[in-house]
Amino acid sequence: MRGLRLGVLVSGSGSNLQSIIDAAENGMLESQIVCVISNKEQAYGLERARKHHIPAIYINPKTEGYDEKLLKTLQDHKVDMVVLAGYLKIIDKDLVEAYKGRIINIHPSLLPKYGGKGYYGIHVHEAVIAAGERESGATVHHVDAGIDTGETILQRKLEVYEEDTPQSLQQRILSEIEHKILVEAIALLEGRL
Ligand code: GRF
Repeated sequence: MRGLRLGVLVSGSGSNLQSIIDAAENGMLESQIVCVISNKEQAYGLERARKHHIPAIYINPKTEGYDEKLLKTLQDHKVDMVVLAGYLKIIDKDLVEAYKGRIINIHPSLLPKYGGKGYYGIHVHEAVIAAGERESGATVHHVDAGIDTGETILQRKLEVYEEDTPQSLQQRILSEIEHKILVEAIALLEGRL
């Protein structure tokens, strides 16, 4: 089978999710998103899913058995591959085990640089600018038991300009790199899983 049944996990705006939705709709991907799940009720990513008639599921992270519920929801939707697209919660080891080799994450830095605890969202770009880096980028990687440590699938760079702020760098990395390499990585894996 080439097309995969994707389950996408989001905590925020979901612009990376949108890039997958668009690529699936315009035929760039053979895979389809069968559910979008969030630990944040107000995540705009859930709204994006609803607009495209994709099941959008909120699971309250404070409820007991959150991780079991999450795994069950993925299995109920017969998800083949899990995509973490701005999902700001540590993935439980049972989920990593159940979907071994079939969970990917996108991270807005040139991993292994600026990855791990505390490096999420704008904090990544603040650290890159503060360190005076001349280049940054994004990485799509397999998810293992660590934080941002799994094997790299795709990584792409861009130049950091003198005048860049954390916000401008974040925007450029999102639009010029993340939205492209996430779709490319899924396309790569379609033929392999
Ligand atoms: C992206 O920068 C992604 O790399 C990181 O979280 C951000 C999510 O953005 N993991 P969005 O919700 O996809 O717009």
